[in-house]
Parts: sequence; C-alpha cells; structure tokens
Amino acid sequence: MAGNWKMYKTPSETVAFFEKFRLLVADSTHAEIVICPPFVNLPAAVESARDTQIQIGAQNLYWAKEGAFTGEVSAGMLGAVGCQWVIVAHSERREYFGETEETALKKIGAALEAGLTPIYCVGERLHEREANQTHQVLGRQMRGCACRLTPEQFRHIAIAYEPVWAIGTGKVATPEIAASAHAFIRSEIRATFGPEPAEACRILYGGSVKPDNVKGLMAQEEIDGALVGGASLDPASFASIVHF
Ligand code: PGA
Repeated sequence: MAGNWKMYKTPSETVAFFEKFRLLVADSTHAEIVICPPFVNLPAAVESARDTQIQIGAQNLYWAKEGAFTGEVSAGMLGAVGCQWVIVAHSERREYFGETEETALKKIGAALEAGLTPIYCVGERLHEREANQTHQVLGRQMRGCACRLTPEQFRHIAIAYEPVWAIGTGKVATPEIAASAHAFIRSEIRATFGPEPAEACRILYGGSVKPDNVKGLMAQEEIDGALVGGASLDPASFASIVHF
C-alpha cells in the first residue's frame, strides 16, 4: 500500500502525520506500507518512520549519478537519505513534465542500480478509453519501458495501473475494469518474461482509492495493492486503507 503525497505537506506537517500514522498501523503486518512525500520531506519522513515497518519512497528522480543538472535529484541521493522506493512516470509527470517511456527506462535503470524499488506507472486517458485504445496505450507503455528491462531488473520493480480519468477525480475504476487492465498488463509481462515473472510481479491499482472502495478492489486477485493520492494525506484515512 503506497501513498503518493504529490506536492503536499511541509517537513513539520510530515512529522505530525507520522506521529499519528505510526500508531495507527503499529499492529499491521499483512501489507508493506510505503509513503512517498515531496523530496524536501524525505529526511523527516525517514526519521519519523524509524523502527516501524513503514518504508519511504520518492516521487521522481533523475538518471545521472551527479552533475550539472539544476533542480534534479539522483537515485544515489535518495538512497543516501534512507529512501527505498521511487515512483517513476506517474501520469502527472508524463502530462506536465514530458516524461516518456524512454526517460522512464533510464530512471528505472538508475533506481535499480542504487538499490531502490521503482514503481512504474501506466494508464490510459479518458479519450483513449472511450476510443477503445486502453490495451494499445498500456501495451505501448509496457513494451516501451518495463518490457525492455532485463529479466533480473524486472524482478525488482512494481507496476501501478492508474487510469488517468480516475486520478483525483473521485471516479474510481470498478474492480472489474481495474482487474481486466491488470490482466492485460500481466499478459504483456508473460509475453516478454514468461509465466513466473508475470505471476510474481506486483501490480498496484491507483486512482481515487478511498477507505470505502479499497476492499472491493483488493478482493480482485489481479490487484496486489494500491497507490493512493488524496486519501494518503490523512493518517486515519490511509491507515484504514492499509487495514482494508
Ligand atoms: P488519487 O491519486 O488517489 O488522489 O486519485 C492517485 C495517484 O495519482 O497516485
């Protein structure tokens, strides 16, 4: 269960979140819990999550190890502050910041080399779903990036299916729609890497996951977890998603 805070919260708000959240999830052992705050909150989040099972992730990275890349942050830097995960190619990064399958592939390579677990995001826009192009889009996003990894690299990534029309809109995909997209993504993985990696790969669903709809989504065998935006900002709400 991963929380994507997007561009919300300051370091002091981060500390306040964890003071409550760590108590609320203290007894949960059934799920891996990851929180992805903005870069500047990573040290506060890592410190606040110390001695808990909560892991910390970033929302983006740059592929070079270091250099003259004003405004960017490397995988090694994320690892050095105690980050274990990183979201790659979130649809907002694709839409507003020019992320492509090519740049995502380089970022995933850099993240893996630094020992981070990338969460590679895929998902179709509303007009693409309406035009019956969902499989075409997901196929392109998988074949252009995740399916170009080596089998060994692929073993260490997670995938998030986030239909763009469901993100921040309150319009959650029905469990059946989500499961069918996950099954398609898995078929792409199977075609490239074979049945075992397809079975083992964790595919999270993202897009308006809330405490009141998470159970239905998680009841689908195809859905291995959730990437949660808005509902991860409140400790009680994200804890009840973790406990679904
Ligand atoms: P949402 O965001 O839960 O607010 O829809 C999900 C995401 O963008 O990861």
